[in-house]
Amino acid sequence: MDNSNVDKGRRRFLTAAATVVGGAGAAAGAVPFIATMAPSEKAKAIGAPVEVDISKLKPGERMIEKWQGKPIWILRRTQEMLDDIAAQDDAVSDPGSDASAQPEYAKNEYRAREDEYLVVIGICTHLGCSPSFVVKEGDNAPVEDWKGGFFCPCHGSRFDLAGRVFKGVPAPTNLVVPPYKFISPSRLVIGDDSEAV
Ligand code: FES
Repeated sequence: MDNSNVDKGRRRFLTAAATVVGGAGAAAGAVPFIATMAPSEKAKAIGAPVEVDISKLKPGERMIEKWQGKPIWILRRTQEMLDDIAAQDDAVSDPGSDASAQPEYAKNEYRAREDEYLVVIGICTHLGCSPSFVVKEGDNAPVEDWKGGFFCPCHGSRFDLAGRVFKGVPAPTNLVVPPYKFISPSRLVIGDDSEAV
């Protein structure tokens, strides 16, 4: 794992304009770029599963990987973070993820296979911006009594530390959980959940 991907969530994030997911122009340019890539890189770009080493991810930290060209966030949650999620069921729109997209094994309060690790696609379910990770005591908390989570600067959608959307914001559903599985306590695979351990 590249440690530069580890994000302690205390820095300011890029502007909304810089983080909007690419549109048709980006897609059109992708083909010649893929043609020049090494085989494994090419496979990754077109959506092959990605193996991730999470051994250096510390409690409370988030790292970012890429799968199918999308940012994948992996957040290692502390017990306090899990407690804060459980305390906010009444504040989120879809606490049981009944109307949201995730594999069956992630359709639970923490939206995860293992409570400790959140794995979600880091794209706002409103119009596709990339929300920021804002920690509990962060200077840039979007609301009072913020318990940590994700804030989308484009139109103000907020998500908790399970990627559950808060009531009263434009995003209609929780952040999407991709298929994934653990192949050891410190390695997971994004994009493949077959014969999961
Ligand atoms: S794209 Fe995130 S709130 Fe609109």
